Amino acid sequence: MPDDTLFSEVLDPRNRADPYPIYKKLREVPVSRQRDGAYVVSTHAAIRALLFDPRLSSEDLPPSRRPRTGNPLRDWILNPIKNRIATSHRPLIFRDPPDHDTLREFVMKEFTIHRVNGLHGRVGSLVDDLIERCRGRDEVCLVEDLSYPLPVAVICDLLGVPEKDEPQFQKWATQLATALEPDARHDEASRHATVAAFDEISSYMRKLIRRKRRHPADDMLSGLAKPGREGNPSMGDIDLISTAILLLVAGHETTVNLITNGMLTLLRHPDELKKLKADPERAPRLIEELLRYEPPVHFRTRKALGDIKIEGTTIPKGAPVILLFAAGGRDPARFSNPNRFFPDREDNQHFGFGGGLHYCVGAPLARIEAEVALVALCRRLVEPELMADPPPYRSGASLRGPESLGIRISGIN
Ligand code: HEM
Repeated sequence: MPDDTLFSEVLDPRNRADPYPIYKKLREVPVSRQRDGAYVVSTHAAIRALLFDPRLSSEDLPPSRRPRTGNPLRDWILNPIKNRIATSHRPLIFRDPPDHDTLREFVMKEFTIHRVNGLHGRVGSLVDDLIERCRGRDEVCLVEDLSYPLPVAVICDLLGVPEKDEPQFQKWATQLATALEPDARHDEASRHATVAAFDEISSYMRKLIRRKRRHPADDMLSGLAKPGREGNPSMGDIDLISTAILLLVAGHETTVNLITNGMLTLLRHPDELKKLKADPERAPRLIEELLRYEPPVHFRTRKALGDIKIEGTTIPKGAPVILLFAAGGRDPARFSNPNRFFPDREDNQHFGFGGGLHYCVGAPLARIEAEVALVALCRRLVEPELMADPPPYRSGASLRGPESLGIRISGIN
């Protein structure tokens, strides 16, 4: 009889530092029904099949079945602020075709490789400045000193948020990210703060969009706010605001986790750290392996729009379906020696950025940020050493990453 409570162990914060043994048990039944009626999908083949299955929806889950900590990002969007976004104005990550595809097309037209590559220099100088600020110290707090501030600054640049407003934007981002933590939702004061941050950022965005329409610049918000030509509609204001907030939220905590997990993994594998330091060209492969081995997003939840037969199980219409990406990344049927961190691995098809129609639009940008940050950290931190292993983790099971990462150093190059 398969254990139908295994997923609650995944959600248990005590297992945050190492959920992989639970994933191994879950993979014994590739699509396993949990006691609360949710179906957990944990093998590479089954996740892949369902990511491309149009019978799975990313829209709302039935309220009675919504897992409490099942999906912090969705819970955050749907719970504290659900009355503030009508269903028709939810961001594309919570929409199905055809609306999803229309919104995504608007975003993709502006999220060009040219624009993303143009941010390379800015990412480099931000990383250098943030590392420079640690000079004279014998300890770096990686999350606070670098992983956290970097992605917000980059998203501000991408969107075209003026530099003087960045500190305010950072505060909103922090508050919205705090709301992603399951414990935060039980606390009234923090719920209020989240709603206030959401309202403030929405009204800020509304004004910024108006300004961009009057004085367009070469940034993503100006591009998205451009009035459409005849027969070629533009995005409405509410969709624009919710898209901008989505970019901030989806691109923030995830990137923080990739950089922090990356440094943690390198410090646990000093040979790989040495190799990267000597040869920065190894960075792209190393990042792909990180996305498989320690992904920032462990799972996403969908809803079955009809009965779905898969791996001998029928998922009934209406059931929540949890795609456990991080378990698929450690599936021995797909990856040889899956628990080994091995950047030279061939054919590394991970689910770090999801797959199918919701595949991450920010993937090229996230890769640049992680590459630049990890290469600079390896080259500039002298004799880096972990201060605690495992480090303390934030409570989120889906957006999983260390809360802080102390690194002892003997100097900065
Ligand atoms: C979607 C991961 C960075 C914007 C996704 C999905 C994953 C993911 C797994 C799929 C969600 C699903 O299937 O439901 C990551 C990781 C990142 C990262 C691991 C960093 C390491 C970014 C950045 C941005 C971004 C930097 C933008 C600035 C988005 C958006 C979607 C998305 C808008 C929704 C796409 C859609 O629904 O069509 N991301 N992401 N992400 N990501 Fe990322």
